[in-house]
Amino acid sequence: MGKITIAIDGHSSTGKSTIAKRLAKTLGYIYVDTGAMYRAVSLYALNHGLIDAEGEIDVPALVQKLPQLKLRFVPNADLGISEMHLNGENVEREIRSMKVSGYVSKVAAIKEVREMLVGIQQEMGKDKGIVMDGRDIGTVVFPDAELKLFMTASPETRAARRYKELLDKGEEVTYDEVLKNVQERDRIDSTRTISPLKKAKDAIEFDNGDMGLEEQFERIYDFSQRVIAKL
Ligand code: DC
Repeated sequence: MGKITIAIDGHSSTGKSTIAKRLAKTLGYIYVDTGAMYRAVSLYALNHGLIDAEGEIDVPALVQKLPQLKLRFVPNADLGISEMHLNGENVEREIRSMKVSGYVSKVAAIKEVREMLVGIQQEMGKDKGIVMDGRDIGTVVFPDAELKLFMTASPETRAARRYKELLDKGEEVTYDEVLKNVQERDRIDSTRTISPLKKAKDAIEFDNGDMGLEEQFERIYDFSQRVIAKL
């Protein structure tokens, strides 16, 4: 059976990755979480003193270091997921911290960072059979993707989901901090000059604010089957 490219974009904490992972598993496709790549670059900047006490990024220094970054998704058979490794080190946990979340939108607004990561992403998807989630997958990375989804939900719904996730991981945060972070990331992601978050013209808008996971998955899986059947 022919394989397609599935692009899943949308705001932060809309549950894109949960759906994308499950869809990829069911279809036997590769799953790529592009947010993890932007997060890994942010972690690198934080750990190498490229972000000062005021939160300013030393962009020229970071751009110069970019060729030295080795980003890899390494499968973890026990957990059934792929984990982000940065220069040989498993950073899956660190890249999800609130600290990284606080800087990642700024790092993702840097042109050279985007160019490098988009290049890697296009290479990963060149044989199709891929589900990729992010902000610019349907608009920039794979404008010809056969199936494009744009996930949305209110900032409050998304903050509540993220808050629960962080508490489960043992992070000490308040709901208000998380909501602020969600709103701030929305603002930066949607207003940046390069590849701002926006729905591709041919993407299906999918508001999952009051939809359970099962229903979401069934509907999205159904979309994919219809597209595949037409190949
Ligand atoms: O999906 P996420 O929350 O892990 O993404 C982290 C940040 O990276 C988010 O602020 C937007 C940015 N991002 C991006 O600009 N382009 C992508 N393709 C994926 C993520």
